[in-house]
Amino acid sequence: MSTYQRIVILTGAGLSAESGLGTFRDKDGLWSKYDLMEVATPEGFARNPEKVHAFYNLRRNMHANVVPNAAHRALARLEQNYSGEVWIVTQNIDELHESAGSHCLIHMHGELYKALCAHCGDRRPWRDELSTDLVCPSCKAIGGMRPDVVWFGEMPYQMDGIVERLAACDLFISIGTSGTVYPAADFVMDARQAGAHTVELNLEPSEGASLFAEAHHGKATEIVPTFVDRLLNSSQSAHPFENRDT
Ligand code: OAD
Repeated sequence: MSTYQRIVILTGAGLSAESGLGTFRDKDGLWSKYDLMEVATPEGFARNPEKVHAFYNLRRNMHANVVPNAAHRALARLEQNYSGEVWIVTQNIDELHESAGSHCLIHMHGELYKALCAHCGDRRPWRDELSTDLVCPSCKAIGGMRPDVVWFGEMPYQMDGIVERLAACDLFISIGTSGTVYPAADFVMDARQAGAHTVELNLEPSEGASLFAEAHHGKATEIVPTFVDRLLNSSQSAHPFENRDT
């Protein structure tokens, strides 16, 4: 019998950093090199779709050879071996959770390897480059194909399901995210209102670090497998870790 019955895990760019994918807000992060208003907003896409396509085509190429790291694999192991329910809600658009073997997964910010037709809403797997002259395979309109990712100002995907799971969870874990982008940054408060135990696993204290009941700071590939192991062995104890380390 496990201590926690329903676990929700929020993941961010820090989880994939050690697979070789850059984060957004760290020094040398993507937003130090690109203007997010130009490449990650609907307005930016309307103004200069070629630039937006070039940004995501580059990221699609960068992602082609990366593999899941020990933290992704540990989370997949947790889902497979834990007696309770384990859901991952990821802000990441990479497919490293799936590659590691996670199934109970929500891509709230969309997926890099999917395309969306802005005209008819058709959504389909897409591994090739996107460009402004593509024809939608479904409605045959030209020029509406875009990455199936959520841009700033757009509604994240599957929010109803996420809110429902947060309201029912008894353990919420936030991993590798700066806690600066909403609504994900608010999930810890939703979990707290549900009475859940809250844990931050991050390289450093995030913006919202003080909102968590427990925190462990270090590289994801080190602290996530350790936490997962203790969680899997913790059915008899109240909390997998006894002390905050920060
Ligand atoms: P950020 O770049 O904002 O934050 C990454 C976090 O990961 C930081 O707090 C780092 O300290 C931490 N980190 C870095 N390396 C790590 C490691 N090896 N182990 C553990 N933690 C590490 O990325 P996100 O919080 O994911 O949205 O960003 C949230 C959203 O903002 C993204 O989904 C994206 C971005 O703009 C959209 O594009 C809509």
